[in-house]
Amino acid sequence: MASSAKKEILKTPRGTRDLFGEELLLRDKIQRLAEEISRYYGFEKIQTPHIEHTGLFEASLGQFSDIVEKQMYAFRTRGGDQLTLRPEGTAPVLRAYFEHGMQNLPQPVLLWYAGSFFRHESPQRGRWREFGQFGLEILGEEGAVADAMIIRVFGVLFKELGMEVRLELNTLGDRECRPAWRKDLVSYYRRHQRVLCKDCKRRLKENPLRLLDCKEVSCVALREKAPQMIEYVCEACKKHFRDVLEFMDVLETPYHLAPHLVRGLDYYTRTVFEFTLLLPSSSPEAEVGRVELAGGGRYDYLAHLLAGSTLAAVGGALGMDRLAEVMKEQKREGFVQTRAPEVFLVQIGEMAKRKSLALVEEFRKAHIPLLHSLAKESIRSQLTRASDLGIKFSLILGQKEVMDGTMIIRDMDSGLQEIFPLSKIIETLKARMG
Ligand code: HAM
Repeated sequence: MASSAKKEILKTPRGTRDLFGEELLLRDKIQRLAEEISRYYGFEKIQTPHIEHTGLFEASLGQFSDIVEKQMYAFRTRGGDQLTLRPEGTAPVLRAYFEHGMQNLPQPVLLWYAGSFFRHESPQRGRWREFGQFGLEILGEEGAVADAMIIRVFGVLFKELGMEVRLELNTLGDRECRPAWRKDLVSYYRRHQRVLCKDCKRRLKENPLRLLDCKEVSCVALREKAPQMIEYVCEACKKHFRDVLEFMDVLETPYHLAPHLVRGLDYYTRTVFEFTLLLPSSSPEAEVGRVELAGGGRYDYLAHLLAGSTLAAVGGALGMDRLAEVMKEQKREGFVQTRAPEVFLVQIGEMAKRKSLALVEEFRKAHIPLLHSLAKESIRSQLTRASDLGIKFSLILGQKEVMDGTMIIRDMDSGLQEIFPLSKIIETLKARMG
């Protein structure tokens, strides 16, 4: 193998990374909290495969959506199947709902999921090719209460994490009212075609709603005067949106109406929402772009598109990478600090090492955070490490202590050492640690 190829195989592929240490602890903790809140609101866990039939995403996300057009990791297997690494979780959850006959369960069905998703995007801050999402879906409920519950769960999570976020809401109407808006949108943009960016010229033909999502300066300027869906909504959509907003008021959840919010996936109807990071207006990022932490909406026609059935549904997903990155930058690491270990287990010799594994378990059960070293280190280097880490007590276990059924407790500040029977160690430490 050439040396350059050798070097390459020792690196993660572009847009992916290893997660470990503090960052992984932070993500795990966020996920645990998200799970706990979701469960409390009645959501049950679902886990779908990382690969699905390519057609599932082509049919659900829209032929001209960015994801289907250029971001899917789609491949043909040796057996000839066309599969894709899942770029999102909603279509798979809906597939699972029908595959397992969940329409026969009491409705609505509330599901949460978490895991890796894959999009072939150009990597940049907060944007990865493999990224983590935490998602929620409510299937089989058309009432605005479901939209409100999804938004609520994400809102509560951000609040518990101490994150300041901005909630943006819009309605995209339904089959009744959206066509008129779309028509006016197309004719508006046609009149200004000259100033559109290259991508938007294409979008105008293929997927005009996406014009509202463009970040190019000239297109952003045009958007300001573009027709807004809210002016076209039919009575039923208007009532639904009003109900969602009323729920927000009752729940004292501040929101901003975002008449141009369309989202990047084609399956939405009626409510769409996004949570973005609240940036001080002086921040350079405020101009460059928003940091979108979570997003979602209602997708009442998706079931018909995929399974020919009528099923009202709504959901949303949170980007774990962005949230963890932002929390780290905002120095919210404190959030992950578990109790700092106060005890270091020093063990010398094979016999002590064998005994120490059982001891670790006893400490775990007693909820005493413990550090230990399984390396072949001298007593001196283990004690030095304990003192460098600011540990209060070291426990010393050598061959003699194992034979006698005792252990030494060393107070690291005073250097005082006392011998105790092994059976009294946890009790004694608990008393000393208060
Ligand atoms: P989405 O807006 O495409 O929606 O993704 C949801 C969140 O995932 C985004 O707000 C963002 O934080 C994160 N995200 C998306 N792409 C990346 C990336 N390349 N790198 C890092 N983070 C990323 C959906 O996926 C819908 N399935 C949400 C939904 C559920 N709608 C209804 N139900």
